[in-house]
Amino acid sequence: MPALDKHYFKDFKTELTVTSPGRINLIGEHTDYNNGFVLPTAIDRKIHFYFRKNDTVTTCNIYSKSYDAFLQVDLKNVRKSDKEWENYVLGVIHELLMRNATLSGFDCIIESELPIGAGISSSAALECGMAIGLNEFFNLKQPVEELIRLSRDAEHRFVGTKCGIMDQFAVVMSKENHVLLLDCQSLDYELIPVHIAPYQILLLNTNVSHNLASSEYNKRREECESGVKIMQQKYRAIQSLRDVSLSILKEFESQLDRIVYQRCQYVISENERVLKAVQELKAGNLEAFGNLMYQSHEGLQHLYEVSCPELDFLVDFSRANTHILGSRMMGGGFGGCTINIIHEDDVEAYITEVSEAYKHTFHRELTAIVVNPSQGTFIKN
Ligand code: GLA
Repeated sequence: MPALDKHYFKDFKTELTVTSPGRINLIGEHTDYNNGFVLPTAIDRKIHFYFRKNDTVTTCNIYSKSYDAFLQVDLKNVRKSDKEWENYVLGVIHELLMRNATLSGFDCIIESELPIGAGISSSAALECGMAIGLNEFFNLKQPVEELIRLSRDAEHRFVGTKCGIMDQFAVVMSKENHVLLLDCQSLDYELIPVHIAPYQILLLNTNVSHNLASSEYNKRREECESGVKIMQQKYRAIQSLRDVSLSILKEFESQLDRIVYQRCQYVISENERVLKAVQELKAGNLEAFGNLMYQSHEGLQHLYEVSCPELDFLVDFSRANTHILGSRMMGGGFGGCTINIIHEDDVEAYITEVSEAYKHTFHRELTAIVVNPSQGTFIKN
């Protein structure tokens, strides 16, 4: 195998281009792995993949422009790496091979517009772009649902985050100007048009990098599952928190550990909020929609405990602004972005104001991005 350097990728003749977006989630956080409801969509910030075949049987050469780093993979020996970005790529290749995919040597350049660790799923964008690209390039004929699932499995096995299906599903299945109401139990979904003008979706990145692989994410999942186990002993039909109402949960208040009780309470309430939020969105009641976003944040902050002081500061700061209808932390938590519904006339002034206040309080820069609901992963011919 030749040593990899930039020279190797010079005069790269692309044979296939794939574009894979990041995602936002309007409401429905930490509900996906509890078989609940979520309301995400892809955004107009993306990762681009450029593929070409090389003449080898098993050597794959990958260059990440964002990391300015190279990865060489031998298809006969795909193993976990100690670098996180490599594991997303390796994980997908591994999952494809496990499904008997016939791959051969290829080269790929990856160019990303997505901030890493911001909670907008640069990881799912990377996994799904790789999976959909290789499926097309090698004519693997895997159904799209399987590509979504195997991308999630790659994250479980190679990265170690026991994530739900929301990110991969949204990254692949979204449509421009729509959000997806996804039932994570059946994977049924409805595309709902987003007509929110003159309001816009503003992301404020705390620049506090979350690390989902850190044990906290998996711990939340285990806490929810431990609650389900106890309730199952009395009600056999309960398979997940999706099957539990707040009144059933209440019956178990004295039996469940206080923390476990709070986690379950949050998830059950958040599922209800998603369904209410969809009704409000369809009816054009953006103010009511925004209030549900604030309630979601409160649950994430106090009951599910996945927020952080920087996120709480940004949500609290928004409350005084009458041009903002709703704000909450988005994604796994412990850092990343808040998502805000804000009147277009106030976007610039608000960014200036909140950035100054944020810097003054945390001695850290805030990054603001206005995003639009966009199409999922696509192949450019
Ligand atoms: C991360 C995970 C998702 C989901 C969110 C929280 O983004 O990858 O599966 O659990 O956190 O809603």
